[in-house]
Amino acid sequence: MTLPKVELHHHLEGAAPPALIRDMARMRGADIGGIFGPDGGYAYRDFTGFLAVYEVATSVLKGPEDYARLTGAVLENTAAQGVVYLETFISPDFCGGRDLGAWREYLHAIAEAARVAERAHGIVTRGIVTCIRHFGPAMARDAALCAAETAGDFIVGFGMAGDERRGVVADFAYAFDMAREAGLGLTAHAGEWEGPTSVRAVLDDLRVDRIGHGVRAAEDPALVERLAQTGVVLEICPGSNIALGVYPRWSDHPIARLRAAGVKVTVSTDDPPFFHTTMTQEYDRLAQTFGWGEDDFAALNRVAAEAAFCDTATRAALL
Ligand code: ADE
Ligand code: ZN
Repeated sequence: MTLPKVELHHHLEGAAPPALIRDMARMRGADIGGIFGPDGGYAYRDFTGFLAVYEVATSVLKGPEDYARLTGAVLENTAAQGVVYLETFISPDFCGGRDLGAWREYLHAIAEAARVAERAHGIVTRGIVTCIRHFGPAMARDAALCAAETAGDFIVGFGMAGDERRGVVADFAYAFDMAREAGLGLTAHAGEWEGPTSVRAVLDDLRVDRIGHGVRAAEDPALVERLAQTGVVLEICPGSNIALGVYPRWSDHPIARLRAAGVKVTVSTDDPPFFHTTMTQEYDRLAQTFGWGEDDFAALNRVAAEAAFCDTATRAALL
């Protein structure tokens, strides 16, 4: 599918090519061989294992220069998929340990690498500062402070990733309030590993504009109706859900049902090399499974462009 694509749910470290992580580990003398399978790709057993491998891979990225290199490699690959606008999750937990001065240095390096990629490949990138749910609410507050202090042209949103099965959503409200006051768009992972109650919690307690995944809202017709009525956008990553076992087969995935019910759905890759996917593959599988064609994908991209957290001029250029 050669259509220009808008991708809203993407983790910067989660898009790291395994070869780059292997090379960095070699340069740093770090032994991380256990995270790779026989095919050279990332290997894990389940979601908990995935999060652990993600954190080990990320641990070899040691400073702003490493993140500049990561950003360059990731954006070249993303642009090659026809993505013209990308929002990527960046975490102060991994970039400078939530120290504001260090965070600014990482961000400067990442944003500069994104500008270089924009000139070279035409891809426009914006960052969403992300707290990690299983690191707890105190670290989330520090991440939100980093987000609020650097909100602007590049940082346009605040989000929460990590293990949805851990912690109480309301405990993260302070962090999300701080980000909202700074004018940032809000999104949280929910409805991936937990059901409708978890989705309702991020709507009620965090007052998010978008939900990362959110697919398990499909289990509750009243919640589906609420999403359709309020226009909250789902950042759906079907290949991620299949690879991690949220659904056994593509034909079981609720994206088409949610869309038919009037919910605003968008399509993203989440962590492409971890899930052996690309934006092109996501589109191809959706086309095969649900019979979607160019018009459907163009409509999905319009929904995504309208839901982008960037400024109006940048958004208008996508529509
Ligand atoms: N971090 C990276 N990918 C994630 C996912 N699919 N769910 C929760 N946290 C994540
Ligand atoms: Zn995600």
